[in-house]
Amino acid sequence: MLAASDPAQMMRSGRWTYAAVSGGHVLGIALLIGAIASLDLRLAGLWPTVPVPVLARVLVPVAATGLALAMMSGLLLFLAGPADYLQMRLFLLKLTLIACGTGHAVWFHSTNSFARPNAGLWRVGLLSLLIWLAVLICGRMLAFVD
Ligand code: HEM
Repeated sequence: MLAASDPAQMMRSGRWTYAAVSGGHVLGIALLIGAIASLDLRLAGLWPTVPVPVLARVLVPVAATGLALAMMSGLLLFLAGPADYLQMRLFLLKLTLIACGTGHAVWFHSTNSFARPNAGLWRVGLLSLLIWLAVLICGRMLAFVD
């Protein structure tokens, strides 16, 4: 059903469509990982003289934009072969990790503020960094497993 949808057929038949969407996915990943890794490293203790609220004001919207782009383009890439992806454990692990990373970020933003001093911020930064790097590795490895 999903595989027969218009976007799925477009992804399989359009000559440059898959390439363009794949490029969009990489752009989203670059924005997300570039922004989130910088913020997470700051939370983990690097660059102590740079104020966290100032950095967060710039990097959180960039990371959120990157995540939205990666999710939209990722969904289209998935539609190129939904049955194949759904039987790949690595793909399911990647989706689970994305849910964990997004949930962790939403939880943090709804219960904390970067403006308030928080002694446990390094743990938040380290966990976030590990989750998103694991998503990155799972995504890249998809092309190399069945
Ligand atoms: C709901 C969100 C997402 C979905 C459904 C999704 C789905 C996909 C699919 C189907 C592919 C193509 C795999 C292949 O056959 O080679 C892919 C590639 C990839 N994804 Fe995602 N993705 C999502 C979000 C993300 C995020 C957030 C990241 C990184 C933090 C990411 C990292 C990657 C990487 C590194 C690749 C390989 C790109 C390449 O080598 O061209 N994905 N993704």
